[in-house]
Amino acid sequence: MNKQMNIAIDGPAGAGKSTVAKLVAEQLSFLYIDTGAMYRALTYAALKEGVELTNGQALNHLLNGLTITLQHEKSGVSVLLNDEDVTEVIRNKDVTANVSLVSSHESVRLEMVERQRTLADKGHAVLDGRDIGTFVLPDAKLKVFLTASVEERARRRYEEHQAKGIVSDLEQLKNDIAKRDELDSTREFAPLKQAADAIVIDTTTLSIPEVADSIIELAKERAI
Ligand code: CDP
Ligand code: CDP
Repeated sequence: MNKQMNIAIDGPAGAGKSTVAKLVAEQLSFLYIDTGAMYRALTYAALKEGVELTNGQALNHLLNGLTITLQHEKSGVSVLLNDEDVTEVIRNKDVTANVSLVSSHESVRLEMVERQRTLADKGHAVLDGRDIGTFVLPDAKLKVFLTASVEERARRRYEEHQAKGIVSDLEQLKNDIAKRDELDSTREFAPLKQAADAIVIDTTTLSIPEVADSIIELAKERAI
């Protein structure tokens, strides 16, 4: 299999990357690789172990001792950190507030990117993240950059929280998202950036199936 036969989906928080990537992967029988979950798993481990989050070397040392598995099951994808199921806990407020700092370190990213390329090596995978089209898979046959207004992205997160019974404040969510986007876009190494050859889809007024269908159509056009 050719590793160019992969689909890269990048964009800011709440643009719909993971929901849409999962759907596209399901419909094309591709493997779904949530690269954000890997950075979140490391952040969770670092907070638990009390590792200084500004210390890239210490984080990388911690990462080298960790196995992060994206386990595909009928019900969805579970994230395992060594043997611990961290699928839910890596979405908590603490991890979300610190993940951009952890993922800003070059040494951490290089190790993660190596793991991600290995996972995508057989081709026929959909990867979502921030640097997939620009750095992880620069030769991917299809690159999509999903975006939406920050108001809409905050509203989506708010609804997600409401559905889960998590108390949250819309304005606060908007500020948190904007802050994370700013950190992700301005970091020195492999920042969040649209690849020159990416197709941009503004999802602000689009439904999930509409976005997924557009990507599947593009994949078919490119004979992926
Ligand atoms: O789902 P959400 O957009 O909230 O975030 P995520 O995809 O789970 O990613 C969490 C964080 O991990 C991002 O804010 C980035 O700081 C980092 N990340 C990254 O740097 N590179 C990636 N390829 C994926 C995520
Ligand atoms: O992965 P990312 O942070 O880019 O976004 P997500 O977690 O896939 O989507 C955030 C929320 O927006 C989810 O609750 C989706 O169901 C919702 N969504 C939506 O309402 N409309 C879209 N076109 C895409 C996502």
